[in-house]
Amino acid sequence: MHTTVGIIGAGPAGLLLARLLHQAGVDSVVLEARDREYVEQRQRAGILEQVTVDALRAAGAGERMDREGIVHHGIELRFAGRSQRIDFAVLAGGRGVMVYAQTEMVKDLIALHLAHGGPLLFEAGVSSVGAVGAVGTADDDRIAVRYRRDGREQTLTCDWAVGCDGFHGVTKDAVPADLRHTYERTYPYSWLGILADAPPVYDELIYAHSDRGFALASMRSDTVSRLYLQVPNGTDPAAWSDDRIWDELDRRFATRADPGWKLTRGPITAKSVLPMRSHVTEPMRHGRVLLAGDTAHIVPPTGAKGLNLATGDVIILARALAHWKETGSAELLDAYSDTCLERVWRAEHFSYFMTTTLHVDPDQSAFDTRLQLSQLARIAASPHAAAELAQNYVGIPIAGER
Ligand code: FAD
Ligand code: DHB
Repeated sequence: MHTTVGIIGAGPAGLLLARLLHQAGVDSVVLEARDREYVEQRQRAGILEQVTVDALRAAGAGERMDREGIVHHGIELRFAGRSQRIDFAVLAGGRGVMVYAQTEMVKDLIALHLAHGGPLLFEAGVSSVGAVGAVGTADDDRIAVRYRRDGREQTLTCDWAVGCDGFHGVTKDAVPADLRHTYERTYPYSWLGILADAPPVYDELIYAHSDRGFALASMRSDTVSRLYLQVPNGTDPAAWSDDRIWDELDRRFATRADPGWKLTRGPITAKSVLPMRSHVTEPMRHGRVLLAGDTAHIVPPTGAKGLNLATGDVIILARALAHWKETGSAELLDAYSDTCLERVWRAEHFSYFMTTTLHVDPDQSAFDTRLQLSQLARIAASPHAAAELAQNYVGIPIAGER
């Protein structure tokens, strides 16, 4: 089988890329290792930036999101027993974010692409991505993507291969080790995340710094809450009973004005522990192999950048591939890695900043805590400091997008 663009992985990056290319008249094949149900149920991010929202609408996948998603124009910070709202409408030029789960976005994109798009093959695990080699002539610069499906080894040849196969995928290996640079940081804490059939207590997200550790109150709908607690690395979710989780959340969100503040409780339907890491692989292109999304970069989740960075990459990439198809010029593809990396490092810094400002490092001194609280107080007091947070939170626009 041959196609113009071989896409490895049907997460948000691979699926949105396939849709945008389809609309631009560029054919593609998507190969996904897992089955459809697994991909659709994988519980992850929940906040879409304006750029992602606009791209989903442009891709024709915005209808349910616009019906069921919840637009937010601010967040609340809690620290030192006080609370402070960060007003995006005022501080970020009217931009906002949309609460719409990654699971739902993925379901919408899959349904659309299966109905009106190129092949999207599930249970097609890719083992390697590399030069066509023996199949082509000496100057054949096509790429061979080798995968296993229906118990058989198969090969997809393509003009361009795009690795959207996440952090543990295989496409990264197509960039020779001596040309690949990785930058990484791990954090000495994790998140315990729960989904609960309980209405959110507040109509915006709450990010809380407390001497007991970080906590985040998010939501999936008017009836489903998504909540996170900082826990030590290596925590077994089974060690946290439902009552212990609710009690701890209540303590971390309590304010001086409302020391008895309580979340509305309900049945916990999912419980998992997420480790936290920052990682960037450079460059994001080697010859005809391009990397996008988590394949090339990971952020710690504080600030909800991971999914949005992945969609940003493929918006830039779809435009570059469409330009190449239309004009034969690889100029935008040549710029792809640098264009993305500029946005990636901005989001890396923001995610690192949010993480290290709001969490308690187990080795943290009283001095470090004072610095965190001073920074949070500055954000509360200064519209300039708050605007910096707000603008990064709603997302830095891509050149040429609104
Ligand atoms: P992925 O979603 O990882 O998709 C990669 C796809 O490639 C997968 O479907 C995988 O099955 C497939 N694949 C892998 N290897 C192969 C192969 N060899 N062959 C074929 N297919 C392959 N971000 C936030 O902003 N907020 C959050 O709360 C949040 N929570 C998260 C929780 C977890 C547990 C994780 C892992 C991530 C979380 N993230 C969160 C990050 C966000 O979900 C990711 O940034 C986003 O999924 C990136 O999309 P992607 O398409 O690049 O990669
Ligand atoms: C969610 C996750 C985040 O990392 C975040 O900063 C905000 C919300 C969420 O899953 O809803």
